[in-house]
Amino acid sequence: MKEKITITTLRAKKERGEKIVTITCYDYPSARLLDEAGADIVFVGDSLGDNVLGYETTLPVTMDEMIHHAKAVRRGVSRALLLVDMPFLSYQVSPEEALRNAGRFMKEAGVEAVKVEGGEAAAAETVSRLVSAGVPVMGHLGLTPQSVHQLGGYRVQGRTAESAERMLSNAKALVDAGVFAIVLEMIPPSLAKQITEAVPVPTIGIGAGPHCDGQVQVFHDLFGFYPHRKFKHSRRYAEVGQTILDAAKKFVCEVRNDEFPGRD
Ligand code: KIV
Repeated sequence: MKEKITITTLRAKKERGEKIVTITCYDYPSARLLDEAGADIVFVGDSLGDNVLGYETTLPVTMDEMIHHAKAVRRGVSRALLLVDMPFLSYQVSPEEALRNAGRFMKEAGVEAVKVEGGEAAAAETVSRLVSAGVPVMGHLGLTPQSVHQLGGYRVQGRTAESAERMLSNAKALVDAGVFAIVLEMIPPSLAKQITEAVPVPTIGIGAGPHCDGQVQVFHDLFGFYPHRKFKHSRRYAEVGQTILDAAKKFVCEVRNDEFPGRD
């Protein structure tokens, strides 16, 4: 069996200049495939909401929904680090509530690390509370989808000198609070490079260019589950949506024409 990935392995990968691969995942069969493919981090993102549960955004996703899916993913992952997103309002109300909810993920679903969005003082305080209780935490800066209404849409962040400076100092504050890695979403590649060089922990980019220590992509974007949903920051490695649609149409047709299950 290949070496189990831990937060220590990830830090060592950054030091060796080896890229870290993260893919979102929401169910058992996909988890088995991603683990076998060699992903370093299998990540139950709150993008569960828009990719699997049919919500418009990630905001409605609940703790119970996340735990239900994290448990299924847990059963399919043996080598990769199992990371889960803390959903909207599961960690922003108080550090104590954040700890109770992170504890649920670890006790009920066996996850190995949690991710929280944001980097202002309150987020750093929460990270510090979780880390001091033994919960590994990943930070998330740039476009933070749980704040979509505050940000005025899904747009590139850190474009002005002032916001770039603030993001860099938030990244350092998250490191001081104890994060083991930071997601950088939808920021200029030059800023991602600056942050990556300034922090000792791995940065994992999405729409942040090639200079991060790793990349994260959403399962359904990588494998083309939604044929008409195309993002500049993702690349399709398969057309699974179209394949399923064609196969389902064939099955419908064969049953209607009495071709399936065939004659005795
Ligand atoms: O939930 C999610 O999919 C994310 C992205 C950064 C991949 O947080």
